[in-house]
Amino acid sequence: MKIEGSLAMGSQWALVVLACLCLLVPNVAMGQLYKDPRQPVERRVNDLLSRMTLDEKIGQMTQIERGSASAAVIQQYKIGSVLSGGGSEPAFRATPSQWMSMTNNFQWGALKTRLSIPFLYGTDAVHGNNNVYGATIFPHNIGLGCTRDPWLVRRIGSATALEVRATGISYTFAPCLAVCRDPRWGRCYESYSEDPEVVRSMTTIIDGLQGQSPAGWRGPYLQDRRKVLACAKHFVGDGGTFQGKDMGNTVVNYETLVKTHMRAYPTAIAKGVSTIMVSYSSWNNQKMHANKFLLTDVLKGRLGFKGFVISDWDGIERITNPWGANYANSVRLGINAGIDMVMVPKNYVTFIATVKRLVSTGAIPMSRINDAVTRILRVKLQAGLFEYPYADNSLGAYLGTLSHRALAREAVRKSLVLLKNGGGAKKRLLPLNKNARRVLVVGAHANDIGLQCGGWTMSWQGSQGATTKGTTILAGIRQSVSKNTEVVYQYNPPTGYAKGKGFEYAIVVVGEKPYAEIQGDNLNNLNMPSPYPALIKDTCSNIPCVVVMISGRPLVVEPYLGYMNAFVAAWLPGSEGRGVAEVLFGNYEFTGRLSRTWFRNVGQLPMNVGDRYYNPLFPFGFGMKMGIK
Ligand code: GLC
Repeated sequence: MKIEGSLAMGSQWALVVLACLCLLVPNVAMGQLYKDPRQPVERRVNDLLSRMTLDEKIGQMTQIERGSASAAVIQQYKIGSVLSGGGSEPAFRATPSQWMSMTNNFQWGALKTRLSIPFLYGTDAVHGNNNVYGATIFPHNIGLGCTRDPWLVRRIGSATALEVRATGISYTFAPCLAVCRDPRWGRCYESYSEDPEVVRSMTTIIDGLQGQSPAGWRGPYLQDRRKVLACAKHFVGDGGTFQGKDMGNTVVNYETLVKTHMRAYPTAIAKGVSTIMVSYSSWNNQKMHANKFLLTDVLKGRLGFKGFVISDWDGIERITNPWGANYANSVRLGINAGIDMVMVPKNYVTFIATVKRLVSTGAIPMSRINDAVTRILRVKLQAGLFEYPYADNSLGAYLGTLSHRALAREAVRKSLVLLKNGGGAKKRLLPLNKNARRVLVVGAHANDIGLQCGGWTMSWQGSQGATTKGTTILAGIRQSVSKNTEVVYQYNPPTGYAKGKGFEYAIVVVGEKPYAEIQGDNLNNLNMPSPYPALIKDTCSNIPCVVVMISGRPLVVEPYLGYMNAFVAAWLPGSEGRGVAEVLFGNYEFTGRLSRTWFRNVGQLPMNVGDRYYNPLFPFGFGMKMGIK
């Protein structure tokens, strides 16, 4: 029949038109607009938020530790994020593929949830992907500050991002933007400098980690899957505590807080830093984790931060003293202050139940929950996590590449600071003669990867020994001298050993044992540990010597300086110790300049450039050259 035929034809055309419309109107028909990457991020955020239950929202605000996580836990509790605490790895010396299997398994659990919201895995890649065996370990920030080379630091960020992605991870708790004002602080080596402008200049690492955000960009940014989300930390005043006490009290007026400790944050935010971590410390006796004025009014209001604010490890429990007292009140204070994601990291069942109860009573307004989840979803959507939730196996090959190690060696060279080369009764010694017949190398720090890497390396505190791959300073020395030169190494030689054995000179490598956070606080003396003072005196009294110091901060050295022909600060150089030897033997000139004041004695502290009383052994910015051509 004509009509039917024509109707049939009409209905066919109608179906074709409808099908085309469905293609054009992305996913609205199936009611999943948030899954459509063609939609603006904010529209996707709002669509997804509108679909979420309170349980799903609180789950997104919860970050748990790897040891507490499984696909089942993530699915059941709708967990939004997992982290590796310092040294937390899926297996001893886990390979990239073992890391990626773990993160993919967790992701599978997350995508099994009702709305399939991908989870985020975070780690402290603070000087390379330092939890991972075989990763390139770059110099810690105190040394990078001495390079005064923001472009180098940006390149380190790029290399680090690749090595983090090599393990299926897309989020690092870096950079630390602390302005360490007292070297008695156990985290001073995580700070680029005592000078806020040097710290601010090093925010280029964010461009390396995340990719450079387009001009005028506002909000979190991630360029692609070879980059990772960054975390500026610890907001704010972490490096200004009284006597450098970790998690202590920063007593300054608001103007000083802003111009000294907050200086780097507007630049970090303008670069699109995706997350900001709250400091454990207090400002004028108020815990930062409960400071609504600074976390919300200043950071999110005046500074316009659009990413998410994450607490520090059990930062909520530390709001009270003793730890964890009146927990519900601390949760209320922390979240209402502006914390969006809580690094729980273990008692997630209690945390989730507590938040739910506080929301039900109105103690935490739903608007605060919605703001927190909006920020978290914004970061995840901006990062492309919904489109690419799983690891990219092809990136596994980037862990510890030769080009990254060459970059690290460059950073080591540029971080070294020459503080003495001749003077008084001692003749110039650097550059060292690479054709000497016999040379002596002494000190545990000359032949130990773990010692030269410092804290946050393969474990939270770091440790002595062959903890990861790399080149020791001694190996670098052996590679730098002529084939006719005999290099004799003594860990801790007996008194008088250097005498009468035909050594042209000695390289004495001294320093601190690794430490991290409060375990590195040294409120008393900052002396060089035994046996180094005696080793310097004995060795350098018998033959010409250069002392190389491996430390996270300046130490008391004035009493021993007269024994030395030359003195070099090498900080915590990381896995590529050859960079030290390349400069000692004159293949490269010293270019480093102190990022911190070198004090004479602890009684002077705190003492920073610009202070009215300023009588350092070596001033901020000091650094000599050998004068090689
Ligand atoms: C630590 C540190 C912080 C780190 C976090 C996760 O306690 O304060 O810098 O990112 O916990 O390991």
